[in-house]
Amino acid sequence: MKSTPMTAFDTAFAEDTYKGLTNFPKYLLSKYIYNEKGDKLFQKIMAMPEYYLTNCEKGIFEEHTAAIADSFNSPDGFDIIELGAGDGKKTKILLRHLAEKKYNFTYQPVDISQHVLNELEQSLATEIPEVNVKTQQGTYFKTLERLADYNTRKKIIMVLGSNIGNLLHKDAINFLKNIQNSMSTEDMLFMGFDQKKHPQKIIDAYNDPAGITEAFNKNLLERINTELDANFNLDSFLHWETYDPESGTAKSFLVSRDQQEVLIAKLGLRVKFEAWETIHTEISQKYDDAVVAWLASEAGLDIETSFSDRDNCYKNYVFRKRASANS
Ligand code: AVI
Repeated sequence: MKSTPMTAFDTAFAEDTYKGLTNFPKYLLSKYIYNEKGDKLFQKIMAMPEYYLTNCEKGIFEEHTAAIADSFNSPDGFDIIELGAGDGKKTKILLRHLAEKKYNFTYQPVDISQHVLNELEQSLATEIPEVNVKTQQGTYFKTLERLADYNTRKKIIMVLGSNIGNLLHKDAINFLKNIQNSMSTEDMLFMGFDQKKHPQKIIDAYNDPAGITEAFNKNLLERINTELDANFNLDSFLHWETYDPESGTAKSFLVSRDQQEVLIAKLGLRVKFEAWETIHTEISQKYDDAVVAWLASEAGLDIETSFSDRDNCYKNYVFRKRASANS
């Protein structure tokens, strides 16, 4: 399988692809789905009726705006730092309220895409011009390193969309620990967690009949084809979703319909697939209060409060740094 093993890789994408496709069982990392095409497909997913997460979280912002704003307030005002802000659609509901009620705050959206940030800044300037916006381009990781510098007054770190669900529990704890390290005891973390629910509803959200999620998942293979000069035939792979109601883990796979061999020229790699062999591509973890409390406690955080939609489909938790936690 490893026809010409490589010692050095040009990019992290090349290295991670090599590692994942020479592993048994095979896997690819879902973070690589998000190139320009992947971003557009994800926008489409968020607009699908089956993908309930977006509307549930939007519902929470609409129903609990005043209480959320209240939980953020502080005598010196506060700075909202949103990691992975995207189009800011849900956050704008809160920002409008904060501006109307004349809260003393700034909004600092962080995103990997400068293009996304420019659009967000422009739309805020026309829709809610009162908001003081400071955009920051960068990865979560780089931003977390800089977060501790923002301690002139209370900061609210926001991570929406149940993005944490794409991490295994151990990685989710590390992510939370990194945030916790950058927090003072006054600061808050406001984070969305998709909740356990009827398994069929979850399967439907990740297996839409229009095939948008399938195209999103297969974008990994398309990226390997274009960036690493490979010859994956996308039609010879099946998009497959599973959900384990015990662990709350939804898993996405690409399943090889036939025995086949794929050449990835830039990796000098021939990858053999048996018929029905899998590539695991993504997890989308679903939570309950006990698991969120456990993750928080492992990361030195306490749950201060939480906001839920009417059907308890989704929850946004407010965390504080545990008073005894070391930074
Ligand atoms: C970004 N993330 C929270 C999405 C999710 O629900 O896991 C990505 C996604 N994958 C398939 N559909 C949406």
